[in-house]
Amino acid sequence: MNVIKNYSLHKLNTFGIDVNAKLYCEINSTDELIEIIGSDDFKNNQVLILGGGSNLLFTKDYNGIVVKNNLKGIEVVEENNDHVSVTVGGGENWHEFVMHCVNNNYGGIENLSLIPGNVGASPMQNIGAYGVEVKDTITKVEAIDLSDGAIKVFSNADCNFGYRTSVFKQELKNKYLISAVTFQLTKQPTFNTSYGAITSELEAMGVTDLSIKNISKAVCNIRSSKLPDVKVTGNAGSFFKNPVIDSSTFEKLKSDYPEVANYPQPNGKVKLAAGWMIEQCGWKGKRIKDYGVHPQHALVLVNYGVSNGQDIYNLSGEIIASVEEKFSVTLEREVNIL
Ligand code: EPU
Repeated sequence: MNVIKNYSLHKLNTFGIDVNAKLYCEINSTDELIEIIGSDDFKNNQVLILGGGSNLLFTKDYNGIVVKNNLKGIEVVEENNDHVSVTVGGGENWHEFVMHCVNNNYGGIENLSLIPGNVGASPMQNIGAYGVEVKDTITKVEAIDLSDGAIKVFSNADCNFGYRTSVFKQELKNKYLISAVTFQLTKQPTFNTSYGAITSELEAMGVTDLSIKNISKAVCNIRSSKLPDVKVTGNAGSFFKNPVIDSSTFEKLKSDYPEVANYPQPNGKVKLAAGWMIEQCGWKGKRIKDYGVHPQHALVLVNYGVSNGQDIYNLSGEIIASVEEKFSVTLEREVNIL
């Protein structure tokens, strides 16, 4: 196992923050992971498991060992006329896997096209977009216990999924590496076009017959029009979660701001659009030196050049304070801060 000292993480985080890891290695098989778990480098250091690096902000050098999950493979494990179950290595790129499903007409995750990151991170934060969350297709998560290398299989219920969260982001944070995820996809898709932007994009595309491919294309068009491409501008997608508040607090907010963007939840609570609130506070498009708030989407903080993560973190603190002051709502960061 090749463990490298003082390794640059610049190209391994989508924010493009230029920091170093004290130690770095890549694992291409579970055997390699088990080997590294047994090593002194692993036992004597804090550990960061790295996937696509698309949901984190480094504020300083990482004083520990970074283990990059490169476990690959896409395998159909069960198939009938209605469904197909696919087991995918945690180190596969998420969008490439979605495209594999779209091209094979496997339905269920087409609304999640073009989300940056790797398959292993998808259950961790229950990625979601355009009316779909990945928890609705995951049947099994295989993970390796970082304390002893034992393999554990989690059912969907074991994962305790919630909005942008799971057991892997809560009680089991930093305790497992997700080696593979099994998705049950459908060959008889029911399309989810509940999100208004999808309907209007499909209309603009002149689509009359819904298909997995068309929906995926519509989602790609919407995302490319308002979210910055990580290959061009450093970012980690939505920097904050959309806050969920109780209905009485919402009624009060609505009487002050009748136009507040909101989504009533099945449990009676109300989800607010953090992007809308941040825009109302005047942050949208604001640029400070080489970093700022994206001009097309206020929920996305961006690194235009060589910014350091601490500056971006401080900006996020200023945004939280101003939303709190104007709306009495506390925003929570979605991105992991390191
Ligand atoms: N809005 C504004 N100003 C802005 C941005 C948004 O007023 O600058 C308003 C929009 O007009 C709309 C509402 O806020 O009324 C919601 O905006 P949008 O549809 O863009 O979705 P979002 O709630 O901001 C969430 C996810 C995104 C996902 C989209 C689409 C979270 C934290 N973010 O964003 O996920 O792509 O819905 O489903 O839930 C990500 O997690 O990285 C991510 C990009």
